[in-house]
Amino acid sequence: MSHSIPAADTSEWWRTAVIYQVYPRSFADSDGDGIGDLPGVTARLDALAALGVDAVWLSPFYPSPQNDAGYDVADYCDIEPAYGTLADFDALLARAHDLGMKIIVDLVPNHSSSAHRWFQEALASAPGSPERARYLFRAGRGPEGAQAPNNWQSCFGGPAWTRVVEPDGTPGEWYLHLFDSSQPDFDWSNTWVRERFREILRFWLDRGVDGFRVDVAHGLIKEDGLPDNPAGPDDFFAPTPFWAQDEVHDVYRDWREVLEEYDGDRMMCGEVWVTPLSKLATWVRPDEMHQAFNFVYLSTAWDAAALRTSIDDSLAAFHEVGAPSTWVLSNHDVVRHATRLGFAPDAWLFHGIGPATDGLPDPALALKRARAAILLMLALPGSAYLYQGEELGLPEAVDIPDEARQDPAWHRTGGERYGRDGCRVPIPWDADSPAYGFNETGASWLPQPSDWAVYARDVQEQDPASTLSLYRAALALRRTYVLGSGTLRWADESDEDVLIFGNGEVRVVANLSAVGVPLPEGFEVVVRSGGVGPVLGPDEAAWLVSAGRS
Ligand code: NOJ
Ligand code: MG
Repeated sequence: MSHSIPAADTSEWWRTAVIYQVYPRSFADSDGDGIGDLPGVTARLDALAALGVDAVWLSPFYPSPQNDAGYDVADYCDIEPAYGTLADFDALLARAHDLGMKIIVDLVPNHSSSAHRWFQEALASAPGSPERARYLFRAGRGPEGAQAPNNWQSCFGGPAWTRVVEPDGTPGEWYLHLFDSSQPDFDWSNTWVRERFREILRFWLDRGVDGFRVDVAHGLIKEDGLPDNPAGPDDFFAPTPFWAQDEVHDVYRDWREVLEEYDGDRMMCGEVWVTPLSKLATWVRPDEMHQAFNFVYLSTAWDAAALRTSIDDSLAAFHEVGAPSTWVLSNHDVVRHATRLGFAPDAWLFHGIGPATDGLPDPALALKRARAAILLMLALPGSAYLYQGEELGLPEAVDIPDEARQDPAWHRTGGERYGRDGCRVPIPWDADSPAYGFNETGASWLPQPSDWAVYARDVQEQDPASTLSLYRAALALRRTYVLGSGTLRWADESDEDVLIFGNGEVRVVANLSAVGVPLPEGFEVVVRSGGVGPVLGPDEAAWLVSAGRS
């Protein structure tokens, strides 16, 4: 059986781009305070150009109390002092553009920090005031309004409502926070909020950014009346009164018009935890966003049949609306795939892992699968997202001491959820330097594991068999063979354990079976995730081209 998806229009860069996520706090620290910063990023951009990515997405760098690592924004149009200044941002942007890379910034529209002036003004104003109407303040239920307005739970655990003390000292209204209590949700039915965010978009577009990654892009609109949530708190994908409300699409149609006023192909990518894929694709209809993260793919088990279904469904669903599929395996919210893929296929890891987690995998097996998985992913037509450190094969940091953990999910659940610190540890650059070259002082806001020297970039640069060399080779070949805009055709021999497909001139084989499989005859290997010789071992993948064509 063969199955073909037509090539997309590739005139717009984002349709085929490989986009690298920088988590500024943990990328490179120029001033040695243990916290990564923008001058640190700028100084290391050439490493990303050498890797061969097209664009960089920067997680939030705005002024913030850092209760949620910057996803609690206290000013949308400035830079966190620990990270630098607007001049530092301009220098970063200019350097990236000089190197031929685009810059995407993170926009956090669902909520601000409680330290934001807009929320502080709301607290100081009376119930019913225009200031309160920026956020979702409501009277409590029950005697004296002592119970929360509804049963919604915070994504980080505990109730999604906090009661305020009114300026006159009496217990007062409650405000909604789908995340930490220091992250109050905006009321997006309020035109005042909509106007402010149009201004924020323009502020960054005027500065020259190439696009936005939009945080919680399925959550801005809440169902009228804020009814109780019938779904359980842990079901990310279930319909709820706060995810995927139809009116949320109006916001993105409005933003699309703002972006269209600017030259260049400015784009938006939504963080949208919605299924099925056909529903997710409604975020990227022609007059809405350009991309949405494909978390269905990220959530797919290391299983050939499941991956094939996920790939087919993704290509079909996004093609239906004229958008490219995105592909992603890791980000700052999930267990790094160089650890995750070693778990049993049914392991549910979205609350993070730590020393007491059952079934911690064999690191060598997990890395082997991660290397095969990236060759599979980078051969798929569309746009691919990489997360800093994955090109080093970096595993999740599992043994973080309890007292060092920072994630609000850890604190709000009394340590029941490990949370996301394990994928946010500052990355290693130089094996023999303090903090592995993250800075010159050795300080690090999260402790780095003592055995990370082997993952350092300077070591891997010298080693043709390293994961870094694999990523570089694959990214260069992806460009040479224009795989991002190609057409995927499953080969007849593809089966429930071994995935085989063609994309343009390249034939991709990924062996998810327990035994070696012979590589097809008449082809030569241009890159492989592991092994040598004519047999592809279990958990290995390879790209091949017709003999004599490489
Ligand atoms: C999604 C972000 O990726 C995550 O890190 C953050 O905690 C929540 N949104 C809240 O902003
Ligand atoms: Mg610093």
